[in-house]
Amino acid sequence: MTMEIPFTEEQIVDACLEIVRVNKIEECYLRPIAFLGDGAMGLGAVNPTRVAVVPWKWGSYLGDEGIKNGIRAKVSSFTRPGVNMLMAKGKVVGHYVNSILAKREALKAGYQEAVMLDASGYVSEASGENIFVVRDGKIATPPYGASILGGITRDSVITIAKELGFETEQRLISRDELYCADEVFFCGTAAEVTPVRELDDRKIGKGGRGPITQRIQERYFEVVRGKHPNHAEWISVSRGLNQGPIALTLFAR
Ligand SMILES: Cc1ncc(COP(=O)(O)O)c(C=O)c1O
Repeated sequence: MTMEIPFTEEQIVDACLEIVRVNKIEECYLRPIAFLGDGAMGLGAVNPTRVAVVPWKWGSYLGDEGIKNGIRAKVSSFTRPGVNMLMAKGKVVGHYVNSILAKREALKAGYQEAVMLDASGYVSEASGENIFVVRDGKIATPPYGASILGGITRDSVITIAKELGFETEQRLISRDELYCADEVFFCGTAAEVTPVRELDDRKIGKGGRGPITQRIQERYFEVVRGKHPNHAEWISVSRGLNQGPIALTLFAR
């Protein structure tokens, strides 16, 4: 985005831990945000970059029931912007108008989330999550070079799936593959790993949380809560005085 961030990654991680510690929060969503500060108006303004970290008590983004039994989603009538239209890989505030339109459309129609297709009609991601599909024991997700946000949870899920011994590929996925899949799930910092039980009123697999989704989900929750020995490097631990670990947060590249 050509924004110079006046802090190191380490300082921002420290700020995330500190905000949780001073507010005595046990579990929350953390939103570090870099934005152009005060100064000139206009699209060409290059004002100093400010950084804020906001903790948000949120619970599961798509609901505890969704985490357990899956959610209902709808393919959106809105298209994901193409790879050269913006910085698709990044979590950039301005991009979210597209996601908001899709999410509102889905909610209004009685679904919980929207699946976005790219300009060629291939599956891209959900309005706020990356997407995975499982068929015949194989796991697939759209490639990093596609019009998707390069999610850290997506990276974590790919790593976990491989460690659990599942064949995992990054390739183009068509809409009808989703309908014919054994399992579909979303993943993201807020949504964690959420199964999709129904898409466009079609049952996915048996219509609940599939067994492979469940294994990945369980391992993901163990790792992010510091209950599994693998991937301590994904976790930042803040220790209060004599209180043991009081805050954990994922902060991978
Ligand atoms: C559009 C979109 N895709 C994917 C993701 C998942 O990214 P991450 O795992 O880095 O949270 C998000 C998360 O906010 C998102 O908004």
